[in-house]
Parts: sequence; C-alpha cells; structure tokens
Amino acid sequence: MGNPIIAGNWKMNGTITESLRLVSDMKDELHRIPRVTKILFPPSVALSSIANLVYASSIELGAQNMHYEVSGAFTGEISAAMVKENCSWVLLGHSERRGLFHESDEDINRKLSAAYANRINPILCVGESLEQRESGQTQEVLRQQLAKATSDLPSINNLTVAYEPVWAIGTGKAATLNVVEETLADLRAFMETEWGDDGRGVPIMYGGSVNEANATAFGQSPYIAGLLVGGASLDAAAFISLTRQFAETKTQAE
Ligand code: PGA
Repeated sequence: MGNPIIAGNWKMNGTITESLRLVSDMKDELHRIPRVTKILFPPSVALSSIANLVYASSIELGAQNMHYEVSGAFTGEISAAMVKENCSWVLLGHSERRGLFHESDEDINRKLSAAYANRINPILCVGESLEQRESGQTQEVLRQQLAKATSDLPSINNLTVAYEPVWAIGTGKAATLNVVEETLADLRAFMETEWGDDGRGVPIMYGGSVNEANATAFGQSPYIAGLLVGGASLDAAAFISLTRQFAETKTQAE
C-alpha cells in the first residue's frame, strides 16, 4: 500500500488571489508532514498560479473535474490535457457533479478513460443518498457506481476510490466509523471479486464532514486509506492539524 492520502476539495470557493493566500498559509507546514500524500483541489482557474507556488514542495495538485473529450465545442469545460499541465490528479464523479450537474455513470466512465489515456491519477467518488441508505440500497448503489464507472477500462492501476455518503457531505454529520468500515469492507470485497489482486490494492478514502475532531478516529481504521476534505480544507490551520493527526495515527498503526 502507498502512503495515506489527504485531499482538500475547495469546490467553488475563493478567487485566485484568495486561493494563493490560502496555499501560502498552509504550504510550508503541509510540506513538512512526512509519509502522507497531500493533494489540493482548488478551483481550476487558480491551478497554474498555485502550481508555481507549490513547485518543488511535497504538495500535489488536482482538478475537481474534467471533460472526457480531447477538445472542441464544449463551452466552459476543461480537457485532460489542460488538467495535465498543472495536475497529477483529478476528482471524478463527486456527488455534486452527479447530483447538480447530472453526470451519469457513463460520463464518469468516459472521464476515467480520459484520465488513464493522459496518465492523470483519478480519484473516483461514490456515495449513496440518505434515502438509498435508509431503504437498504447502499451496497447495490455503490457496487453499481463502481462497476459502471470502471466498465471496459484497460486497467485500474492508480485508481483511488473515495467513499462519500451524500448525507455526510457539508452537513457537519460525518458517518460513524462503524458505518464507514462496514461500507468499505463491502466495497473491498466487491473490488476483489471484480479485479482480484488489483482490487486489493485500490486505496479507499472516506469523505463527508471530516474535521480536526474526527481525523484521528478515521486514521485509526485500517480500512481508511485517506480522507477527502471539503469545508475544513478551506481553513489552513484546521487542514494542517487534521493532516498531521491523520499522518501520525497512520504512522503509529504501521
Ligand atoms: P465536506 O465535503 O468535508 O465539506 O463534507 C467533502 C466533499 O465534498 O468532498
């Protein structure tokens, strides 16, 4: 298994100026935290300026989304080649993309193919709604999202999955450790059935109201390979603190 991963998804927050300030506020301290992969997902317009700022540091960059076509008449979209200029990562299938922008599993499948074709590491987000969980459909929903997104891909090397229950995102109500572990165990079993040894190696992250108060508990779980952080990644001190906690807990568990 690789290093544990901490990713900060800034969503549509901050101008370029504000984004640069936020990176400046966290960059040195984050850089010094060892044995954890640190990835920032700022708004795409800020990526190239931020790339200059984090150059030669241990901070990696990713895009929050991208289109699957190579180029053309897709107003407002960015391509994999554009992402690749500044980023080694891309977030795909976030529940806000699925819900608010009607991205289908087929769209996400094409985007994953584009990520592989361009050697960008994808983080594939999956997650069930509250209604789906309450009606006992979680396992089926997650398995379908995973199977459809990865259908016919030449390989799943470098795939990272983020389990983000929709009801835990931005609500301040993180899933309990029990719920996360039970869900991740099932996802892992499914991956192993589908992909054998390769499925065993896919890191699975958790996301949904991760903060300074729960990062250590999540870090103690052997099921959780990383954390995808939204709101708390916009606060430099909170993000540094939770990254440090997660890294230290994971190191102690080794
Ligand atoms: P949150 O967002 O940490 O604000 O709940 C997580 C995410 O959407 O990735």
